[in-house]
Amino acid sequence: MSTLWGGRFQEPADDLFWRFHASIGFDIRLAQVDIRGSQAYARALQSAGVLTAEEAQQIQTGLEQVAAEFAANTFTLATSDEDIHTAVERRLHELIGPVAGKLHTGRSRNDQIATDVRLWLMEELPALAALLRALQQALAARAEDEIDVLMPGYTHLQPAQPLRFSHWMLAYFWMLQRDRERLQDALPRVRECPLGAGALAGNAYGIDREALAKDLGFEGVTHNSIESVADRDYILEVLAWAAILGGHLSRLAEDLVLWSSSEFGFVRLAERYTTGSSIMPQKRNPDSLELVRGKAGRLTGNLVTLLTVTKGLPMSYDTDLQEDKEPLFDSLDTLAQVLPVVTGVVATLQVVPERMRAALNEGLLATDLADYLTRRGLPFRQAHHAVGQAVLKSEQLGVPLSQIPLEEYQAISPCFGLDLYTVLDYQASVEARNSLGGTSRAAVLEQLRAARRVLESDTGDDLPA
Ligand code: ARG
Repeated sequence: MSTLWGGRFQEPADDLFWRFHASIGFDIRLAQVDIRGSQAYARALQSAGVLTAEEAQQIQTGLEQVAAEFAANTFTLATSDEDIHTAVERRLHELIGPVAGKLHTGRSRNDQIATDVRLWLMEELPALAALLRALQQALAARAEDEIDVLMPGYTHLQPAQPLRFSHWMLAYFWMLQRDRERLQDALPRVRECPLGAGALAGNAYGIDREALAKDLGFEGVTHNSIESVADRDYILEVLAWAAILGGHLSRLAEDLVLWSSSEFGFVRLAERYTTGSSIMPQKRNPDSLELVRGKAGRLTGNLVTLLTVTKGLPMSYDTDLQEDKEPLFDSLDTLAQVLPVVTGVVATLQVVPERMRAALNEGLLATDLADYLTRRGLPFRQAHHAVGQAVLKSEQLGVPLSQIPLEEYQAISPCFGLDLYTVLDYQASVEARNSLGGTSRAAVLEQLRAARRVLESDTGDDLPA
């Protein structure tokens, strides 16, 4: 087998080892960015006087043809193609002859792969940001439509206080907004060009790295050749972003799985996002959301994989780093599937306000009753205690708070008056929470306006620098 590095070898690589070691099976998807990197590098070599204009031109034309073969799916792999870099160079050599061998002057696959992945991320991430934005749009649209629907809110999964269903939807809007911002924040560090770092020590041919970076659409260059080939922190940031986002989506999925159960019945998933059982004819399972929930494990696993691979590696490049690509590809592919599914589920979800209403019980208004006493001058701690006694009384009498006679209330605290019963109202409860970020109608509408503003402030399909 002919390799790029065979000069000092007397024995061919072991077959099994060769297959174990080859990365072409997955780095082939970097073909186009790899070729773009090579074209820019050839221009840089020409500017540095390493290639003549004619040689540079031959290389450009050859690389264009290789790119066209990949695009048309006519590129044929050879068993000697160890990785995408060697595959491209091997084919270039077949097309233009020995001048192809000048392209790798001063370059290493170490700076090449680091460049490829960064270029690939610069291309892929905006599409994911746009998918994320589409989900936020769906949440905002539903929040607007369902503004008058009330439901029990939970802490510890115990009924806590009444909420607007819209308020719950917008909770996810803002969690996803921070995810979109996190992605944005990570970009400047992706957009640093490592090309010219060589194997680890730098480039000996006087190439203009800044011009090269600009040519490739990077914002600037990396400043140290050693870390340029050794670190993968920009990939870790993307994987961490994906894992955090996956966690948010899994919580959204879990809320809806729970609420679509017959015991809750707060929502019904559109049939198209559910499946049946092969044995139980009555079943309609929320598989779409269960899988979204499950994918969070995978996204977290990918982050942990690369954190573990990179810890304790000796400087600088080590082949362990080749393990960065599969988790990265997997996380981004996973999100590209998960995000549109969640958007579809949210957009087609049927809300069942009667079931939410039926799940409201007066216990959810105990805080309002304590607030009532507080407004009548009782310190909150005492008010809390008094209402706790009222709740106990309601349990003992087996009646809701609104059915306990006034005398009983007044025996607990003389601060209770006849108007206490007007407080025991779900609408009044949500409307009372009207400061910024609360669940009153006005506060939720204000929140929606803020949500619309952040959606309008960027298009989502291109991430500004
Ligand atoms: N396939 C390698 C990777 O993914 C790139 C080549 C690294 N250089 C080397 N000498 N093996 O990281």
